[in-house]
Amino acid sequence: FAYLNYLVERDRKFILETLLTGLSRLEYRGYDSAGLAVDGDNEDETFIFRQVGKVAALREKIDAEKGLDVERTFVSHGGMAHTRWATHGIPSVRNCHPHRSDPKNEFTVVHNGIITNYKELRTILEKFGFEFESDTDTEAVAKLCKYIYDTQKTTMGSTLTFTGLVKAVCKELDGAFALIFKSAHFPGELVAARRGSPLLIGVKTAKKLKVDFVDVDVEVPQEDEKNLMLPDQPKIRRTQSRSFFGEEGVPMPVEYILASDASAIIEHTKKVLYLEDDDIAHISDGDLHIHRLRRDDRMSSVRPIQTLEQELAQIQKGAFSHFMLKEIFEQSESVVNTMRGRINFDDRTVILGGLRSQLANIRRSRRLIFIACGTSYHSCVATRSLFAELTELPVSVELASTFLDEQMPVFRDDCCIYVSQSGETKDTLLALQYCKDRGALCLGVTNTVGSTISRETHCGVHINAGPEISVASTKAYTSQYIALTMIALQLSDDNYAKLPRRHELIDGLFNLSADIKKTLALEPELRKMAQEQFGSAQNLILIGRGYQTATVLEGALKIKEVSYIHAEGINAGELKHGPLALIDDKMPIILVMPKDRHYSDSENALKQVTARYGAPIVICNDDDNTPLFNNLKTIRVPRTVDALQAIINIVPLQILSYYLATGRGFDPDSPRNLAKSVTTA
Ligand code: G6P
Repeated sequence: FAYLNYLVERDRKFILETLLTGLSRLEYRGYDSAGLAVDGDNEDETFIFRQVGKVAALREKIDAEKGLDVERTFVSHGGMAHTRWATHGIPSVRNCHPHRSDPKNEFTVVHNGIITNYKELRTILEKFGFEFESDTDTEAVAKLCKYIYDTQKTTMGSTLTFTGLVKAVCKELDGAFALIFKSAHFPGELVAARRGSPLLIGVKTAKKLKVDFVDVDVEVPQEDEKNLMLPDQPKIRRTQSRSFFGEEGVPMPVEYILASDASAIIEHTKKVLYLEDDDIAHISDGDLHIHRLRRDDRMSSVRPIQTLEQELAQIQKGAFSHFMLKEIFEQSESVVNTMRGRINFDDRTVILGGLRSQLANIRRSRRLIFIACGTSYHSCVATRSLFAELTELPVSVELASTFLDEQMPVFRDDCCIYVSQSGETKDTLLALQYCKDRGALCLGVTNTVGSTISRETHCGVHINAGPEISVASTKAYTSQYIALTMIALQLSDDNYAKLPRRHELIDGLFNLSADIKKTLALEPELRKMAQEQFGSAQNLILIGRGYQTATVLEGALKIKEVSYIHAEGINAGELKHGPLALIDDKMPIILVMPKDRHYSDSENALKQVTARYGAPIVICNDDDNTPLFNNLKTIRVPRTVDALQAIINIVPLQILSYYLATGRGFDPDSPRNLAKSVTTA
C-alpha cells in the first residue's frame, strides 16, 4: 500500500493514518507483521516503523514514538506500507517490510510476491560489501537499488532517473512481484513495478479527471539480457505517456493510492487503473507515467482509468463481530447477485454475456478441465457431475498445484475452466499459462473484476458475490457453485432432451435465496451445538456422498481453517476402505444425508457408523421423518434440487466452523498461517 500527495497539504498524522487504515483493509491478505516508511524531518531522511503482529500493533508502536512531530505538514510526500504473510524468513521485526538499502534508508521497498533468484543476488551483493539485516528475498531488491545507483554514479559520473533505476533493478529479478520504491534521492516520488502480482493505482483529484486513460511509454530499450555489473543509461522518452496535469503547464493537486487490491483504495477514490505485468509506474510532480520494462507488441499501450463499483460499506463489518459471519449471512443476497441479469426465471433461460463470444467453441471442446485451489476447487468438485450430465462431455477437476506437478497433457480442443475468488492465486495462474501455451480455450470464473485471471482468460463469468474479506471463503463458494451451475445450464441449452432437468434446476435456483434464509435461521441452534457437542473436540469426521462429497470436503476445510480442529471430509463410499477404523463412541461425526438418489447408500454408511457406537449429527432435509434419526441429533435444512442441495448444506457447516473458532477464542477472520490470496507458488 502506498499514498502520495501532491499540492495537497497533509500533516504527518494524516499520512500515517492513511497508511495504517490502508494496511488494515489489506490485512486479510497476510497479517504476521506490518511496517511503513514516511519522510523524515530532513529532505533526505526516511523514517521506517515495523512491528510483529497485526496492524494495530504497528499503530501502537507509532503512537508510542516519542518526539515524532505528527503536526509537520507536507505538500508533496510519498509514503508506503506493507502487511506481511511470511514466505522467506519467520515473522519478526527484522523480516518486516519496508526493507532498506542501507542504514541511512536511501532506498526503501515494499514487496508482494517472491523473488526466486534472491539468493544469487544476495551472494553478489554481499561480495560488494552489503550487509543484510533480514532473511527476506525483498531486502536484495532494496540493496540492489543502491548498488546500481552508486555504480552508475561512480562509473558514468551521472545519476539514473528513478524510473531508469527501477528498470535496471527489475531486469535482474526473477519471480513474481508487485514492488513499490521510495528513495531519499527522489523526494515526493514513488515508483511501482509489477510482474505476476496485482497492483492498482487509485487517482484522487478535487476536480473531475480530464483523462480516462494513461498512455504507456513504449519507447523503451529492447535489450533484455541481465546487466548487473554495468547498468546502461536507459533511453527512455516520455513523449508517449499521458499526464494528469489539468491544463498544459498548470499543475493539478492530486493524491495517489497504490494497493494490491481495491479494498484499500475505495474509501479514497473510485478511479483506478490496473498495472499490467512489466509495467513500471512513476509518480513525480503529481504526474503519473507508465513505462514498459520490455517491449511486448501484444500488450495494449493504454491503461484505462476504470470506475470501481464497490462501496466502502460492502467491505466493512457492520453489526457483525467478524467478516466471516457477515459474509455467511450475506449469502441469501449474494446468490441473487450472482444470478441477477443472467437468468430469466419467467422463460427459464440463462444468458451469460461473458461467454457469448466463445460459446460455440466451448461446446465444440473435447473435454472440460476445471482447475482451482482450496475452496474454489471444492466448488468444481460440487458441480462436476452436473457438468457431465448436462454437457455430456468428459469432465476432470484438478488441483492447480497437482495439475502442474503432473504436467497433464492438454490439447487445443480442451476447455479449461479456472475458478478463483481472488483471480490472483499463483498456482491457478501458472496452470492458466500452461494451458494457454498449449492452445486450450481458457474460461475464468472469479469474484474480482480486473484480476489477472479475468484478464488473461479468453472468456469468463464474474460471480458478483461482492468483496470477500474473511480469509475463510464462504459466500464466494456458494456464488461460484451457482456461476458454474449457470455455465452448465448455458452450455446445454441447445440440448432439447435436457429441458425438463434444466427447468427443474432453474426453479431450484429461483428458490435458493429463501432456502438459504431458512438455513441461516438455524444460527442459535448451531451456536449451541458448537459449544455442547464439539466443545473440546480435537478431531471431527464429516461423511457424505454424491453431491455431498464436496460439502464434507469444504465443511472440513472451513473447520480446520478457523478452529484448528483436525477435520476430515470422507466420501461415504470409502468409509469401509479405511476411515471406519477411526470410528468409536468418542469420535465426533457429522453425516450429510439429504433425500437424493444416494440416500440408501448413506443409510448404509449411517448403519456402519452406529454399529461402531458412533453417534453422528445428521444434516438432513426438514421433511425427512425417518426413524433412523430417532436417537440422533439432526440439523434440518430445506430441501431443494439434488444438484443444488450442497449449496444449502454447506451453510450450517460454515456457521458451525465460525462458532467452533470463536468458542475457542480464535479470530476466524485471521486464521494463523493462512492468507486470503496466495500469490506465491
Ligand atoms: C487460499 C485461501 C482459501 C482459498 C484459496 C484459493 O488458500 O485461504 O480460502 O480458497 O486460497 O483462492 P482463490 O482466490 O483462487 O479462490
